[in-house]
Amino acid sequence: MNIRTFTKLAAGAALIAVTAGAAKAQEGVEVLHWWTSGGEAAALNVLKENLEKEGISWQDMPVAGGSGVQAMTALRARVTSGDPPTAVQMLGFDIKDWAEMGVLGNLNDLAEEQGWDKVIPAALQEFSKFDGDWIAAPVNVHSTNWLWLNKAALDKAGGEAPKNMDELFALLDKFKEQGITPLAHGGQPWQDGTLWESVVLSVGGMDFYKKAVIEADPDALSSETMRQVFDDMSKLRTYFDPNFSGRDWNLSTALVIEGKAGAQQMGDWSKGEWLRADKKPGEDFVCIRFPGTQGSVLFNSDQFVMFDVGEDKRDAQLKMAAAVEDPAFQIAFNTVKGSVPARTDVPDAEFDDCGKKGMKDLAEAAASGNLAGSLAHGHAQPSAVKEAVFDVVTQHLNGQITTDQALERLPQAVASAQ
Ligand code: BGC
Repeated sequence: MNIRTFTKLAAGAALIAVTAGAAKAQEGVEVLHWWTSGGEAAALNVLKENLEKEGISWQDMPVAGGSGVQAMTALRARVTSGDPPTAVQMLGFDIKDWAEMGVLGNLNDLAEEQGWDKVIPAALQEFSKFDGDWIAAPVNVHSTNWLWLNKAALDKAGGEAPKNMDELFALLDKFKEQGITPLAHGGQPWQDGTLWESVVLSVGGMDFYKKAVIEADPDALSSETMRQVFDDMSKLRTYFDPNFSGRDWNLSTALVIEGKAGAQQMGDWSKGEWLRADKKPGEDFVCIRFPGTQGSVLFNSDQFVMFDVGEDKRDAQLKMAAAVEDPAFQIAFNTVKGSVPARTDVPDAEFDDCGKKGMKDLAEAAASGNLAGSLAHGHAQPSAVKEAVFDVVTQHLNGQITTDQALERLPQAVASAQ
C-alpha cells in the first residue's frame, strides 16, 4: 500500500469515526433545571446516571433560584434566541403557557405505550396534558404545607407538635427562650409566598383557600379572614433572625439542621437537605403538616417538557421521558428528593416515615376534595397573578405596607394581573 492510499484510507476511517462519534454525541439531552442545592443535585444525579447507563449523554444547564423564577427567565432568553434546550423542568401553569405557544413535543405515543393515563393522577394530568395531548412527563409530587422541626429543640420545648397557629406561636416562644432562631425563613418573594399560602390554608381552611387563591375571589382576598392571615404573617415575622432577607431556602434548612433555628416552613424538598446531611426523620427532625392544615395538601409537581427541537433529538427525549416514568426511578429519585411519586401505583415500602405520610396525605386529600394547587409553585394561577400576590405579601412582610393596605391592594393587584 503506498502512502497516498494509506493516507486516504486513514482519512476515511477518521471520517467514519468522527461521524459515528457525532451520531453518538447527538444521542443526548440538554436539561434546564433549578435543582442546585445539595439534596436536589443528589436527586438529579439519579436521573443523570440512569440516562447515561442507556447511552444518553447529559448536558447540564442548571439555573439556581428556588421555585424556578430565574430558570424561567433563562428559558425565555434561550427560546427567544431560537435555541431552546431539549428538556426543561417546569411547573403547572408555565407548562400550559408554553404548550399554548405550540413549541412543545408531543408524548402521546410513549404515554399510551406505558399507560400513563391509568397511573398519573388527574390533578397532575391537568398540567401534563394540553388539548388532550401529553406534553409533559411528571417526575414527582411535592407539597408545600409542611413544617420541619429540629427534634432536639422540639423535645426541649416539651415535644408536642403544634396543631394550630396559637400552638405554633407558643412553640416559637419556647424556641426563643432556648436562645435559637424560632423560625428560619428566607426573605425572597417565592418563599414569602410559600409561607403565606400555608397560613391562608391554616387560618381559612381549604374552602377559603380555594375561594381566595384558586378562584381569586376579590371578596375573599379582602375579607376579615385574610386580615387574620396578614396579622399572623406580621407576627411570624417577629420570629425570624436579622439575616433572613434574601437568604436561600436551603441555607435556612441548614440553620434548623445545625440546631441554630427551631423550625422552617417549607415544601418537602427541604427533606432532601436533611437526608443529605445524614439526618433521620423521627430521630433528628420531625415533619408535620403546617399547624392547622392537617388533612389538606397544597401540591406542586415537577415535570419535564420536551421542546420541539427536531427529529434527531426525539429519540433521546423519549428515552428521558420514559426513564422519568419508570416506577423504579420514581422510588429512587423521590426517596432522595423529598417528594412522592407522580404515579399512584408505586409502593411506599422504601420511603421513610415523612415520605409515607406524604403519600398517604396526598391520596386522602385527593379523595376528600382537600387537595389544591400551590400558588407559590405555579399550580394555582398563571405566573402574572402569582407574582402580583408575591408583591403584596413581600411588601407587607417587610413592613412596607400595613395590613389595611395589603387587604386593599391584594384584590387590585390580582385583578390587574388577570
Ligand atoms: C420545585 C422543587 C424545588 C424547589 C426549590 C420547587 O418549585 O418544585 O423541585 O426543589 O422549588 O427550588
